[in-house]
Amino acid sequence: AAIKKYNFDIQMKNVSRLCHAKPTVTVNGRFPGPTIYVREGDRLQINVTNHVKYNMHGMKQYRNGWADGPAYITQCPIQTGNSYTYDYNVTGQRGTLWWHAHILWLRATVYGAIVVMPKQGTPFPFPQPNREFEVVLGEWWNSDVETIVKQGNAMGLPPNSSDAHTINGKPGPLFPCSEKHTFAMEVEQGKTYLLRIVNAALNDELFFALAGHNMTVVEVDAVYTKPFMTQAILIAPGQTTNVLVKASQAPGRYFAAARPFLDVPLPVDNKTATAIFQYKGIPNTVIPTLPQLPAQNDSSFALNYNKKLKSLNTPKFPANVPLTVDRNLFYTIGLGKDSCPTCLNGTRLVASLNNISFNMPQIGLLQAHYFNIKGVFKTDFPDKPSTPFNYTGAPLTANLGTLVGTRVSKIKFNSTVELVLQDTNLLTVESHPFHLHGYNFFVVGTGIGNFDPAKDPTKYNLIDPVERNTVGVPTGGWTAIRFRADNPGVWFMHCHLELHTGWGLKTAFVVEDGPRSDQTVLPPPKDLPFC
Ligand code: C2O
Repeated sequence: AAIKKYNFDIQMKNVSRLCHAKPTVTVNGRFPGPTIYVREGDRLQINVTNHVKYNMHGMKQYRNGWADGPAYITQCPIQTGNSYTYDYNVTGQRGTLWWHAHILWLRATVYGAIVVMPKQGTPFPFPQPNREFEVVLGEWWNSDVETIVKQGNAMGLPPNSSDAHTINGKPGPLFPCSEKHTFAMEVEQGKTYLLRIVNAALNDELFFALAGHNMTVVEVDAVYTKPFMTQAILIAPGQTTNVLVKASQAPGRYFAAARPFLDVPLPVDNKTATAIFQYKGIPNTVIPTLPQLPAQNDSSFALNYNKKLKSLNTPKFPANVPLTVDRNLFYTIGLGKDSCPTCLNGTRLVASLNNISFNMPQIGLLQAHYFNIKGVFKTDFPDKPSTPFNYTGAPLTANLGTLVGTRVSKIKFNSTVELVLQDTNLLTVESHPFHLHGYNFFVVGTGIGNFDPAKDPTKYNLIDPVERNTVGVPTGGWTAIRFRADNPGVWFMHCHLELHTGWGLKTAFVVEDGPRSDQTVLPPPKDLPFC
């Protein structure tokens, strides 16, 4: 195995889009940041030097949370002028992932794709494509992102939404001043292409489609899936999807487009990003055709699409679904009124799990755990809500009171965990993409309405459920995931809509060390930033 080294210099650079220029936090002056290419089994060393303020996250690291990246969870932020090397072995994942800054909303501009090639000599379990393209979906804001965040977090009201969606940082020609900010994929008729699609948007789940061409989904979140053909995909922030596309149409120019999946559609759809799928030899003067995208609020497309995702589950790539459960967790997702009596007098809107809104600590939780520093967090996060209620029914104000705290769950090493995430109607039902650090999990079931512990588990897919690291909890519904807690450390779990994360929709799992010396958290690297 090789050592792959990257240097990331975090610096300000003027970036202009939609006729607006603004100072932007970039990696090596690039927006979006560079793609990381690595092979399964390699050791990856990313030296990050901060000229602004930065933290980074992207892959799962066995026993090595120090390289995970979320600020105040596994490390303190890298101070201005300092460097830190994210040094870890790439194991157990192959496909597309993404890396991003993990402090406040800095990931708005500091992100990029990670391409993990399978081990040397191991072919893809699908036809070898002629060429690959990275397709990283994002958002562009004309105004300064940090200002918008402060507004959002302080008032508990949604900040102004972004001004455009982007594909590889480019909004595409439907926007003003954007002709040259258009991503183009040049293709040849009869050839097959692998699109590595990443959703790096801050606050939107996205539909993505390509005019005139079907896509075959072959992998999500760096795990192979049973291939299936679709006209459009749904992808949430934090998720990745690899699709094969055959350039089988009459040579021409075709738009690829991304636009949000929203519970309440925008009155005017003015945020759709486009890229161009361009057959070789076709002049740029040919006007491309737009793809058919699902309606903005097409939740039945979303539900059906997610149901089609299944693990490949072959002897070579088995789905090791936990068949028994040692620990059952049931977390409600809701919005509520802050009832921390000393700080905000119950006036601020917060987001919570089991009515607990997460308070960021002052030092990294992993440091506190490893060095046994007391008073940083409590391990009393409840396994289920204190009083069950009709989660998706009419909300009761009694359920709105929310506690604020740095409370996490302690999990026994190697135990099997089932977590049911239940959306609630506290203030409003909404869909939430949940991301767990340090693990992949199996999505064994999902449904609309209240989870029924007597009936729903009998319908679980325990054979070939999709394995991933981010899953959408449907609007007014639930999702059940299972994983084996075989990675010791402190692992963040949060809604990947940055607005909701900022309101406290997050917690962490402290997975204890195992009995063997190769089942414990590794010692921290020498250059680990401290607070
Ligand atoms: Cu993609 Cu905690 O993040």
